[in-house]
Amino acid sequence: MADGALLRGTGIGKRYGGVTALDGVDVEVRAGEVLGLIGPNGAGKTTLMDVVSGAQDLDAGTLTLAGRPLAGAPWRRARLGLARTFQHPQLASELTVAENVLTGRLAARHSSVRGMAASMLRGLLSTATGRDECARLAADMGLDDPGRLAGELTLGEKRVLEVVRALAQDPQVMLLDEPFAGADATGIAAIMEAIRTVRRRGHGVVLIDHSVDLVASLAERVVLLDSGRVVFEGTPEECLASSEMRAVYFGGGYDRT
Ligand SMILES: Nc1ncnc2c1ncn2[C@@H]1O[C@H](COP(=O)(O)OP(=O)(O)O)[C@@H](O)[C@H]1O
Ligand SMILES: [Mg+2]
Repeated sequence: MADGALLRGTGIGKRYGGVTALDGVDVEVRAGEVLGLIGPNGAGKTTLMDVVSGAQDLDAGTLTLAGRPLAGAPWRRARLGLARTFQHPQLASELTVAENVLTGRLAARHSSVRGMAASMLRGLLSTATGRDECARLAADMGLDDPGRLAGELTLGEKRVLEVVRALAQDPQVMLLDEPFAGADATGIAAIMEAIRTVRRRGHGVVLIDHSVDLVASLAERVVLLDSGRVVFEGTPEECLASSEMRAVYFGGGYDRT
């Protein structure tokens, strides 16, 4: 696209009963960019990811990916080039690292878990090529034992594996929901390196965290959400210095109009 925006959301609104989770949110992500999405608990960060990925319907607004309408079921959006990870890792713990990565690759090609399972049964999992490629991708991203069971990984490794699995979809844009949550220092370092690799490969990344610190060291731009609205957008430095940031995180209020 002329302006370089890969993912664009305009006027996004979402209500849950009486709760306005998102209220007129505009957001855009470019190729090879990490966009930090920060805000306190309940700000609407996960909801934004849910409506972008198709896990939830939006009530207002439009979404495009590389200029094409982004709509329909999550699998359809995955095929259009969107991948996500979850606040709580969703891996098949009884499958190996390489096999979990393979499920990511298959997810971009199949319309359902059933279809994916069928093609696995048809032998995809047993083809050396697929497994080797996935093992190599995992190793490139810092997981160098492809035969380990996902259930036996540390939380940090599980989160890296989720990123690798998303990367195996070869998405245009990857959405990461609190990838550092609960990880120890080693895990955090590994996840950060994985995210840098994803950026280096030219994918757009939306990185959610409730704290600005980790996001600031990775993101080119930061969007601050509060009560479902974008209250600040700028570089991490600008965000850290803003009165909106202080108001949201340390109280004191700001002009919300
Ligand atoms: N599935 C849901 N059903 C009802 N309310 C929800 C649901 N998901 C989120 N909410 C509400 O929407 C608001 C935003 O939540 P969420 O997007 O999870 O915030 P964040 O990820 O920034 O912590 C909160 O008030 C939350 O309680
Ligand atoms: Mg959340």
